Amino acid sequence: MLVKTIKDMKSIVKKLKEKGKSIGFVPTMGYLHEGHISLIRCSKKDNDVTVVSIFVNPIQFGENEDLDRYPRDIERDLQICRDEGVDFVFYPSADEMYPDGFSTYVEVEGLTNRLCGAFRPGHFKGVTTVVNKLFNILQPDRAYFGEKDYQQLKVIQKMVKDLNMNVEVIGCPVVREKDGLALSSRNKYLSEKERESALSISRALFEGKKMFEKGEKDPQKIISKMKKIISSYPEVKNVQYIEIVDPETLEPKKKVEKGDLIAVAVFVGNTRLIDNIKI
Ligand code: PAJ
Repeated sequence: MLVKTIKDMKSIVKKLKEKGKSIGFVPTMGYLHEGHISLIRCSKKDNDVTVVSIFVNPIQFGENEDLDRYPRDIERDLQICRDEGVDFVFYPSADEMYPDGFSTYVEVEGLTNRLCGAFRPGHFKGVTTVVNKLFNILQPDRAYFGEKDYQQLKVIQKMVKDLNMNVEVIGCPVVREKDGLALSSRNKYLSEKERESALSISRALFEGKKMFEKGEKDPQKIISKMKKIISSYPEVKNVQYIEIVDPETLEPKKKVEKGDLIAVAVFVGNTRLIDNIKI
């Protein structure tokens, strides 16, 4: 069932709570793919009711980013949600979420300075603010986030812990195409040639992991090999970062250990892609 207003959504949530139903929540920006679907399936398994939100959140996009061209196809998204047995789709407008005079933000410090946060000022503030609003509206028992956006998952978990919010934040594994490319709504931007170059990212991540498994502990050696792989593809315009970090603090490691995270952000053509792997 499609719900467009906060008022209607809250009254549905109230009734569900009165009936003692557990609520699982999957926040998205739409243009759904198998990555999103994996989160929906986890939620369906754990909860009585699953709510998916579809909202392209303007305040998490920087001025020169892709808000205006972000892919949208609500009819297709709704069909996917019906096919997957989603109980409610919350699909508010930007005015509904941010009426005139809106002026309150939620910001997680520290964790957000690193990795993507260093290159996208204000991005995580936009994410934590909208997720906070969505949690308040939907009061979920559990919320599902992909490890594809690993830093986002950690930032949300920190917000929930620091602000004593009553929701369990669950991370789900990265879903990839058969050839290794991590699924992303932004893959739609890629031309055929760019799609081929985008494969460099997962190939480099798999190679980095392999180097560690063969005994390499020096992060710089792994990073420079990965950089070489990625830069060798013609449509790669800019390697924004390749880092090996502690999976909790996201601080760079001096010596690589099992459980560390290799995280990458790369521009392929004009499209910024991120991916990561745990080693
Ligand atoms: P969006 O990019 O639509 O992603 C929604 C959720 O799907 C996120 O938790 C993301 O990590 C997960 N996801 C995307 N691709 C995935 C993949 N290949 N494998 C597994 N999970 C994947 O992330 C956002 O939207 C927004 O920032 C949002 C949290 C909705 C706040 O606006």
